[in-house]
Amino acid sequence: MTMLDFSFMQGFIRLVGDGFAKGWHERNGGNLSYRLKEDDVHAVAPFLHDKGVYQTIGAAVPDLAGECFLVTGSGKFMRNVPLEPAATLALITLDSAGENYRIVWGLEQGGRPTSELPTHLMNHEIKKRQTGGAHRVIYHAHTPNLIAMTFVLPLTDRDFTRALWEMATECPVVFPQGVGVLPWMVPGGDAIALATGRLMEQYHVVVWAHHGLFCSGADFDETFGLMDTVEKSAEIFVKVHAMGGKKQSITCDNFRDLARAFKVKLPDRFLD
Ligand code: 13P
Ligand code: ZN
Repeated sequence: MTMLDFSFMQGFIRLVGDGFAKGWHERNGGNLSYRLKEDDVHAVAPFLHDKGVYQTIGAAVPDLAGECFLVTGSGKFMRNVPLEPAATLALITLDSAGENYRIVWGLEQGGRPTSELPTHLMNHEIKKRQTGGAHRVIYHAHTPNLIAMTFVLPLTDRDFTRALWEMATECPVVFPQGVGVLPWMVPGGDAIALATGRLMEQYHVVVWAHHGLFCSGADFDETFGLMDTVEKSAEIFVKVHAMGGKKQSITCDNFRDLARAFKVKLPDRFLD
């Protein structure tokens, strides 16, 4: 048994490889984090070291105190993760205040966790509370069609939600809450983390204009599936606009019928 045999580790690595194959991870673009279950934390204990020194997270996440996360390393090429997981990933534990982390496995040739660690951990804290602990995965990808949309559409939750819902019938069922949209911001700090967190209170998908997308989910399949669904819808949007724009579409009454049939609640503010 090695660290790489744990199923959470295999699921994490598979997601990164699939994301690269999709074209969402040029160089080090994008990052991924997973909040370990208590059973996993006990099981991996024999494989961890205590050489790591505590470093500041750059955000306070007291509700995650003492928790353990698998994260991608900053600047590590996502394409290399399946080949060199121990050099590109880190297992980190948080201190009792939820203000500092230390590395207990991985980044064998040096490095630090993703520069988006504040956003990942703040999102984990919000989703842990909001979903009663169900959500464990936060995923950031540079999805090209969605990024293209942010140069064309007004940067509002409503404009993006409606456009994405209309481009694929399953979308309102997969993300009935809609999507949140942030204007362009400097990546990597606590300001973008706080702004993303405010939107994660309402949505499981947050658009970073001219940059990419953040998704939250219970497991790797659900979170990857959400990213894939949003990006595919964005791809259809780009094709439709390249063909001269919509001539017909799914109507608000269609959406209401869909919501009834699939037993989802679509917020009234997105349906005129
Ligand atoms: P990291 O390499 O630090 O994870 O940064 C990649 C990225 O996408 C920043 O938004
Ligand atoms: Zn990014």
